[in-house]
Amino acid sequence: MPAPITVELEERSHHIFIGEKVLENIELLIKKNVHEITSCVLVTSSSIFDLYGTSILEHLSELKIEKILVPDGEAAKSWNVVEALLGDYIEKGLDRKSVVIALGGGSVGDTAGFTASIYLRGIRYIQIPTTLLGQVDSAIGGKTAINHSKGKNLIGSFYQPTLIICDTSVLKTLPLRELRSGLAEVIKYGVISDPDLITLLENKGSFILKADKKLMTQIVKKCVLIKAKLVEEDEKDSKGKRAILNYGHTLGHVIETLSNHEINHGEAISIGMLAASKISENLGYLKYNDFERQENLLKSLGLPIKLPKLNYNELISVMKRDKKTEAGSINFILPTGIGKTPIIKPVPEDTILKVLEL
Ligand SMILES: NC(=O)c1ccc[n+]([C@@H]2O[C@H](COP(=O)([O-])OP(=O)(O)OC[C@H]3O[C@@H](n4cnc5c(N)ncnc54)[C@H](O)[C@@H]3O)[C@@H](O)[C@H]2O)c1
Ligand SMILES: [Zn+2]
Repeated sequence: MPAPITVELEERSHHIFIGEKVLENIELLIKKNVHEITSCVLVTSSSIFDLYGTSILEHLSELKIEKILVPDGEAAKSWNVVEALLGDYIEKGLDRKSVVIALGGGSVGDTAGFTASIYLRGIRYIQIPTTLLGQVDSAIGGKTAINHSKGKNLIGSFYQPTLIICDTSVLKTLPLRELRSGLAEVIKYGVISDPDLITLLENKGSFILKADKKLMTQIVKKCVLIKAKLVEEDEKDSKGKRAILNYGHTLGHVIETLSNHEINHGEAISIGMLAASKISENLGYLKYNDFERQENLLKSLGLPIKLPKLNYNELISVMKRDKKTEAGSINFILPTGIGKTPIIKPVPEDTILKVLEL
């Protein structure tokens, strides 16, 4: 069994096990890390259940465990699904020592985590992320959220899981577009904190796009270490430390929203990271070479880099609605080099428009 990465948060501390086939040891991992379980529910979507659910139920047959299916993808993150899940928990008699197991991407993880945080004022949950984005990002850090009709991720909680299991062999079945979406987040970690990660991505791109298990394990570990440390320093995202994880997201979120999610999260932040880098280069914080290196890497992994045709008035107003605004300027996370801590600066609207040639 690989040694875990531990997120140190006093009584909320927990382990993250990362590796090829760690799921084969799920029974032991739960036995050792989650004590006194009265019953469990496995929350997942039907397509993910068909791929990995049956084997998990078999491995956990000694526990009192039942599955509950939620809709696939973003559709899971709604009030209706939460209401239905809570109803199922009540009917199945889950008590304060029961455990929710979330098996799926960020959508399942966010929804199942949120329900665990409010059912009986909080019961334990385990994250088993099955997307690259889930393994490097959404399952780590304890942010849970569902969507409101007026906006994405507006309803949620900070609620740490009890255990996280990242089995990199499940990434083999991930559609290429989803894998790429996760890779955009991986590049984000490299640029803000780990130059070796960028070199690895540059050298091994073709193997990475085939979800090579060994490489994926190496990559997921590197990203999780970075995120775990930032979460330890700034659990509730209130001290500005965790904020650098939003690199590429200021513009990325807007692109995602204005494209009605036709451009997915990773694709949007790929465009957003390069735009922020262009602004940073223009303001003299980033060398042109480092901008170009990032551009080449994003392109080589098949991620988009060009801003789509958008109405720029709309773009600015949606960006301003985002939380990161200060009088007439928009806060950007500006890279200062490959693997160097970025700076957070308000950038005036006209500079954004000029640099991005809008
Ligand atoms: N909580 C956080 O800190 C945080 C951070 C980042 C993103 N998020 C949230 O995560 C969500 C996106 O998550 P996502 O990118 O993981 O997408 P997702 O959960 O919507 O899954 C994408 C698709 O991949 C499929 N899939 C998942 N695992 C698979 C596998 N191993 N093989 C084949 N298909 C598989 C799913 O069925 C789904 O159709 C967004 O709602 C976002 O807001 C949360
Ligand atoms: Zn993201």
